Amino acid sequence: MTRSSFLKWLIGIFGVAAVAGVVYPVLRFLKPPAAVSSAIGQVVNAGALGSFPAGRLTLLTVHDQPAAVQNLNGKYAVYSLICTHLGCVTGISGDSFTCPCHGSEFSPTGAVTHGPATLPLPTYHSQVQNGSLLVGPIDLSHAAYPTWYKGEFT
Ligand code: FES
Repeated sequence: MTRSSFLKWLIGIFGVAAVAGVVYPVLRFLKPPAAVSSAIGQVVNAGALGSFPAGRLTLLTVHDQPAAVQNLNGKYAVYSLICTHLGCVTGISGDSFTCPCHGSEFSPTGAVTHGPATLPLPTYHSQVQNGSLLVGPIDLSHAAYPTWYKGEFT
């Protein structure tokens, strides 16, 4: 191997490594995590109403997915904590939601207050029965959720 061909080979290797170093993080950013479960549609008992104090969000899992119950004076809502931007798990910040990945923020009712997310956090169907909160399928009918979000729940 001549010195010239060795240098071309070396430059080629570095070029491929440099391109891979740029493309891989971009693809990881664009591809949502496979965080959303398919085990949906069943009704689960989330617990006694006393487990969900008024005026604050209570964390729980629904079908192995992170969710939060909101009790507003005896009116219960169960929010998915899967961010509608790219699928990270949002955190609770006071009575609202904040996504650690790209900074989206959601109001106490799940509405977007700060992007990049544009769609609200969906809620699960829920109802009170015999002193317990029953949680059913997620309700994706209020917005045009992306295919990856909707698809995982059908
Ligand atoms: S995943 Fe991007 S803001 Fe939540």
